[in-house]
Amino acid sequence: MEDTAIVTTINLPNSLTSPEADSAVLEVTGGASLSGQVAVSGAKNSALVVMAGALLSGQPCRIRNIPHLVDIERMGEVLAALGVGLQRQGDSLEIDARSIAHTQAPYDLVSRLRASFFVIGPLLARMGEARIPLPGGCAIGARPVELHVRGLQAMGANVHIDHGTVHACVPGRRSRLQGAKIYLDYPSVGATETLMMAATLAEGETIIENAAQEPEVTDLANFCRSMGARIQGAGTNTIAIAGVPSLHSTDFGIIPDRIEAGTFLVAGAMTRSEISLCPVIPEHLTALIAKLQEVGGQVLVEGPNRLRYVPGATLNPVDLQTGPFPGFPTDMQAQFMALMAVAQGSSIITETVFENRLGHVAELNRMGADIRINGSCAIIKGVPRLSGAPVLATDLRASAALVLAGLAAEGTTLIQGLHHLDRGYENLEGKLQQLGAQLARKPGV
Ligand code: UD1
Repeated sequence: MEDTAIVTTINLPNSLTSPEADSAVLEVTGGASLSGQVAVSGAKNSALVVMAGALLSGQPCRIRNIPHLVDIERMGEVLAALGVGLQRQGDSLEIDARSIAHTQAPYDLVSRLRASFFVIGPLLARMGEARIPLPGGCAIGARPVELHVRGLQAMGANVHIDHGTVHACVPGRRSRLQGAKIYLDYPSVGATETLMMAATLAEGETIIENAAQEPEVTDLANFCRSMGARIQGAGTNTIAIAGVPSLHSTDFGIIPDRIEAGTFLVAGAMTRSEISLCPVIPEHLTALIAKLQEVGGQVLVEGPNRLRYVPGATLNPVDLQTGPFPGFPTDMQAQFMALMAVAQGSSIITETVFENRLGHVAELNRMGADIRINGSCAIIKGVPRLSGAPVLATDLRASAALVLAGLAAEGTTLIQGLHHLDRGYENLEGKLQQLGAQLARKPGV
């Protein structure tokens, strides 16, 4: 790969990073039917961890299909704080981690982006030490990191937590982590990714059992393999990594975002509209597609990377519970609940991944939904129609659920808390407008 000038910021449109983004309101006028094709962006969760993974290589890497999102900007800031060079051109990002000046990530950055904790694995593997603040909880749960820590300890790292920061180092004169057999109590996506990255440069073989099988884990494995890592079994519950002394440069494209694609499929169902999506990897959406078909719509696979949603005559209620991949994704739970709020009957949605991910229920109820919470279950009685109201987005996927509810509601919905939306959806308004939706961002008061 060509060497490039090093800059330490990624440029996002001002509208995403300005303080106005926090106070702005999204005005959604319900009732429009949608049609046309949506271009799905690169997967946020994959891009974030692949950016962290670029720390493993002593040569510059190019990553393509990076979405323009606040979370990506924040991960860029974390890498820049470590002394890594970044240069963005359109959807491409060059990361030059030939030299890593610091092994400590600043608290104010990590606290704003939980995924930035995942740099602990590659930093420790490459530099022999890492000091990363605990990311803390967030709106959807406490989100501890003990599975990451225990796995790194099993690989020979000394890890202790002091004043809210995780200090990890490879002890003694050994410069490399040691391969280990690691069983995860829960198939955590982040822990699987942290440990897989750390193991690529370890001495000997690491086996991760009960590993997460999410497509983003497989994408990260493919990225690492493209740099020379030896990884087998990603996408299954057992991943084997044979450590190598160093990794080289790569030019790698991120997979399409299955959650963004899923959100548009649900938009089609809620507005009873025919929508097609491209690019998309249908196998990443199997659980959602099955549920949408139970609801009464058809999801047609039109070629290897294109899906079409065709609405049915009814919106049947369906029960579901979220779970690790290939189960129903927790990141689609809020959007699917918005759909069930207008289904013809009652349904139960059970959240099993995060302990506090039902913040959207109160907001959907403000729009006329009839949803009761019982522990981790939401009992939803479908209503004939929602009505527009002022609402507050409580987290990223909750914000998408409110947009979907607004599209199907009678009247106007005013959504506050758009900084959540901007974390994870690239140009959602523009893409929906292209399909014929009526929505616009208004400055806050
Ligand atoms: C990732 C995704 C997030 C998605 C989630 C589950 C990124 C950047 N984020 O988050 O969008 O909702 O997967 O699909 O990829 N847990 C522990 N101890 C640990 C680690 C996790 O108890 O050490 C718990 C968490 O609190 C949570 C559950 O395990 O209840 C799942 O978390 P995990 O799979 O780790 O999610 P993330 O990697 O944080």
